[in-house]
Amino acid sequence: MRIAEFKIEEWMNKYEASALYDLTTTCISPLCINDLPFSKEIFDLKLGYGDITGSERLKAAIQTLYERDHSITVTHGAIGANQLVFLSLLEKGDEVVSVVPTYQQHYSIPGALGCRVKLYFLKEENFWLPDLEELEKIITPDTKLLCLNNPNNPTGAVIPERMFEKIVEIARKNNVWILSDEVYRGLNLIGKPYSKSIADIYEKGISVGSMSKTYSLPGLRVGWVAARADLVNEINHQRQYNTISVSAPDDYFSAVALENKDFIHERNFKIMNEGVNILNNWLKNTPEVRCILPKGGTTVLLKYNLDLPSRDFCKKLQAETGVALLPGETLEMEGYVRLGFCAENLEPALEKLGYFLKR
Ligand SMILES: Cc1ncc(COP(=O)(O)O)c(C=O)c1O
Repeated sequence: MRIAEFKIEEWMNKYEASALYDLTTTCISPLCINDLPFSKEIFDLKLGYGDITGSERLKAAIQTLYERDHSITVTHGAIGANQLVFLSLLEKGDEVVSVVPTYQQHYSIPGALGCRVKLYFLKEENFWLPDLEELEKIITPDTKLLCLNNPNNPTGAVIPERMFEKIVEIARKNNVWILSDEVYRGLNLIGKPYSKSIADIYEKGISVGSMSKTYSLPGLRVGWVAARADLVNEINHQRQYNTISVSAPDDYFSAVALENKDFIHERNFKIMNEGVNILNNWLKNTPEVRCILPKGGTTVLLKYNLDLPSRDFCKKLQAETGVALLPGETLEMEGYVRLGFCAENLEPALEKLGYFLKR
């Protein structure tokens, strides 16, 4: 299967490790094993394949994140979950609507499978939320799948509940599946921390989650799909070919983390709120950029006012200051850069970015 270059991942591989101030990150500073309240049982954990689609203990912990009962399968991160959904659901010629900016998997994998991909661009003037009238025009009975990411990376937008229900109504009317990539679910800065999950409100809703963002454990490489049983059976059929099982320690630590998630949330919100305050104060003194403050997630888009392509902007910035940002072009958003506001050393990094912009 030929597939487009995964622009974000290529960029991060090249520039992230050498950054003095890494603002490309979408993660909240990862936890250590020692931060988790694990018990001595870990040393007796058999390092076999374990339960193939995830341990009962882990699946029960994942189920607590939902209001209704779902079929759940555990995957190699959300990246594995998304891929399995596409492989299970899509065939050449199918129509897929992908809401962008988003994680590039959502349009490049369907494209590589030979689907007809329609990109629906979120707009800054709509606070990075979908315009329902426009969405209603783009989704038709020919559409098989709508892909979205809520809360959204990179914009930090969170779809309000009523709007989410309206999107479901549009999908239902056209008999369209919705893949909602919910890896930032649980990180809302306003209102309840958890938005409704698509799996809880739509019979053709597919929820993808993971340990990476909301639970600050990206190194565990554990994600999941929660959806209705027939789809999850189909996913498990595909899954035999690329997963077998996730690693037994990853499965164990994920279960422990989810069973004790309150302390993780507390830590997250402290870091997120500090980050937003620092960002907000910096924005007040930096008229060279424009930014819609995040409602959730870990990132925002900055619109800069220089006549410079975003890749050149980021290269120059990093070479001169050591500050790494993600070029908007890698997200199909030329003229913008993505900033992770939960990054370590945010304040000195923004100070350097401010000097750079003023020069
Ligand atoms: C929206 C989105 N989906 C999926 C992923 C992949 O996450 P994971 O580490 O769980 O594979 C990311 C990672 O940045 C992401 O931002």
